[in-house]
Amino acid sequence: MKIAVHGASGFTGGLVVAELARRGVEAVLVGRSRERLRAVADAEVRVATLDDPDALAAAFAGCAAVVNTAGPFTRWGGPVLRAALAARVHYVDTSGEQGQIHDVLATAGPDAERAGVTVVPALADDGGPGDLIAALTAARVAPAREILVADLRLPGGASRGTARSMASIVGRGPLEYADGGWRPDTGGHAPVDLPGERVEVAPFPLPGVATVPRHVPAARVRAAMRADVVKLFASFDPGAAELAPAVLDEATRRAGRWCMLARATGSGATATGVVTGPDPYGLTAVIAVEGALRLARGDARPGALTPAQAFEPAGFLDALVPHGVAWRVE
Ligand SMILES: NC(=O)c1ccc[n+]([C@@H]2O[C@H](COP(=O)([O-])OP(=O)(O)OC[C@H]3O[C@@H](n4cnc5c(N)ncnc54)[C@H](OP(=O)(O)O)[C@@H]3O)[C@@H](O)[C@H]2O)c1
Repeated sequence: MKIAVHGASGFTGGLVVAELARRGVEAVLVGRSRERLRAVADAEVRVATLDDPDALAAAFAGCAAVVNTAGPFTRWGGPVLRAALAARVHYVDTSGEQGQIHDVLATAGPDAERAGVTVVPALADDGGPGDLIAALTAARVAPAREILVADLRLPGGASRGTARSMASIVGRGPLEYADGGWRPDTGGHAPVDLPGERVEVAPFPLPGVATVPRHVPAARVRAAMRADVVKLFASFDPGAAELAPAVLDEATRRAGRWCMLARATGSGATATGVVTGPDPYGLTAVIAVEGALRLARGDARPGALTPAQAFEPAGFLDALVPHGVAWRVE
């Protein structure tokens, strides 16, 4: 079985290639520069540019799935997804861009069904675990009335690719889901309590607002992030993003921790779920590869699905535990 990695020459793409190698799965390295792709690993290289849909589809042909790591997805994601559908190959990506994830889930379903493949955006350390823990937390208080998905990671350790993606979305503003539709989030989030810590949060365009309402019939779904991280990401205009490091060194990467919280309120009950892990970029690679391999073995129905629609949430999170992830719902 072969898995195509589009954007394999990037920081996250390289980690995805390494994770496939660790699992003994053959990677096909896809991108625009043969030279940069050949430097990644001793693996098959297929060169295709985004303005050549036939070459891109041919580059994915014969693969069981595509893992797309070339962001900003708002800008570059469309041609890659269309080529995967044309090649009838499952698709996952590492996008954290709320608007693009919303658009993919809203529009790609019919073409994916016709092609008989599954499309799962947002398989990174925020969108994947955030959607899965929200599903498990909401189930505890069903029917959930209100859901909050909060990204409580500490500031620090963003790659240039992440900074570029953040710069591409901050102007768009965060959405919330209310009364059957999406609208701008009006703010006013209460602090979130963690054991021993009260965390100030602010609205942020996280994947959860795009994904959770598609499988939890709550009246309201909102998302927030640690307020000092929101400030940091807001400072990433296109110029400042170019100053971020292209690659995080091993020590910086491994010192990072990510933490997604979901709070679900039903009639008279509240449940809280937390999922946390080390090495945000390394775990993003693990999550994307885990998802791609589950699609390759036929775990999900065809369509454009959120992580929790495509995969059994507890089983998927349990598969991350050997990588240092811990999760609980109370
Ligand atoms: N949500 C999360 O939690 C999370 C976690 C990890 C990563 N991510 C996302 O993953 C993405 C990648 O991040 P990164 O740090 O790995 O970035 P990166 O190192 O800059 O890599 C970007 C990759 O995209 C390719 N690319 C960029 N523009 C392209 C174009 N026009 N045509 C073809 N290929 C193009 C690059 O190819 P070249 O080498 O040819 O330039 C490179 O392979 C970002 O959007 C980031 O936000 C999200």
